[in-house]
Amino acid sequence: MKNTKFQTLTGMHDILPEDQRYFDKIYEVVSEIADFYDFEKIETPILEDVDLFNKGTGQSTDIVKKEMYSFRTKGGDFIALRPEFTPSIARAYIQHGMNNRPQPLKLWAFGPCFRYERPQAGRYRQFWQFDFEIFGEKNPVVDAQIAQISYNILKELKIKNLVIEVNSIGDNQCKPYYKKLLGNYLRNRNTSLCSDCRIRAKENVLRFLDCKEEKCQPVKAQAPQILDHLCDECKAHFKSFLEFLDETEIPYNLNPYLVRGLDYYTRTVFEIFSSEDEKENIPKIALGGGGRYDNLVKFFGGKDTPACGVAVGVERIVELMKKQDIKFSKKKEVEVFLTQLGDLAKRKSLKLLEEFRKANIKVSESFGRDSLKAQLSRANKIEAKFTLIVGQKEALDGKVIIRDMKTGNQYSVSLENAVKEVKKRLK
Ligand code: HAM
Repeated sequence: MKNTKFQTLTGMHDILPEDQRYFDKIYEVVSEIADFYDFEKIETPILEDVDLFNKGTGQSTDIVKKEMYSFRTKGGDFIALRPEFTPSIARAYIQHGMNNRPQPLKLWAFGPCFRYERPQAGRYRQFWQFDFEIFGEKNPVVDAQIAQISYNILKELKIKNLVIEVNSIGDNQCKPYYKKLLGNYLRNRNTSLCSDCRIRAKENVLRFLDCKEEKCQPVKAQAPQILDHLCDECKAHFKSFLEFLDETEIPYNLNPYLVRGLDYYTRTVFEIFSSEDEKENIPKIALGGGGRYDNLVKFFGGKDTPACGVAVGVERIVELMKKQDIKFSKKKEVEVFLTQLGDLAKRKSLKLLEEFRKANIKVSESFGRDSLKAQLSRANKIEAKFTLIVGQKEALDGKVIIRDMKTGNQYSVSLENAVKEVKKRLK
């Protein structure tokens, strides 16, 4: 390790073969559930115009202000690596006239995002998200469905002690009023705030509510709460959302301080946690988060389109799956190992391997090795049920030896019948 010249960049990580099965499993569950709920998959480019996130995610958010990977291209365009999916998917919705398709339109995505964060447990500079978005439906039933989908995926992955925190942050009518109220409240208490919140009080006052600094907690406890200042429509929407949640088995808590760190939200916001973390006294980090964003599509120049979505961090799930010792079935086991000695045997084996692939029987081989002993020991190690041996003589005679690894019995069969004979014995 010491002499390795190149290393991954700070906060970036390789996903090694031993971790791929977690990613594969998560992808499998996400795509099955997406399909069940009638979501269609979308892939958007990793690179976008920087303004998409400046405007969408929001100029005053940490993500844009401190964490965005942005740069100028050789052609002079100012672009960014996506820090999240939502603005890209909203852009695609408008760009491809998807408002003309039957609504609500449900889309999902799975891929890497980039944020220049201070690396720490569960926080990387390149991380993967899966993301669900519903466009064109204002009924709070879809807010509940979005929460339910993320909950169901995590549940299906056997993550324990899941809980969803929910809140409403109002809309264009009541949010500005509440922000003013909170701003006035903070103005008189400036000296009791941490340095970040003194800035937030001016630029992004709602973010004060999720400040974790000890200094700000007493001020927070006395602060006016948004739920007391929602307009009638937002109040009704939130009440109805909670009633829908009550119909599901999702455990949820009301968190009046939950505001989320992105600018586009209106009304419903939520985050999903595994309460396992709390016991260990490590900072609580969300597995996923989402909410409603009824203004974004219009703000981007599209038609007035209500929308709601969620994103969940894949690495955070993998870490929890490991911590909670969650087991899932291994990949399809290798049933047959193919050994060969000499060039002619290798040639015949290459062809034989293809026949097994077509018959959907998983075969492993080590074409690079020429010692029968080494090859058999590999077959033992991977616990193959049968080993096929194509020696020099067998290659000349058009034969192959099938060795039952359990009993040690061997049978010589013709190359053409090899697949059929193995199939028979596997049954
Ligand atoms: P977000 O809360 O910024 O929301 O991110 C969602 C999830 O991505 C987080 O809960 C976390 O699991 C994961 N995540 C975020 N940053 C990192 C990081 N640096 N390292 C590892 N994992 C991370 C969004 O991205 C919104 N687009 C969600 C949404 C979709 N809202 C509406 N639609």
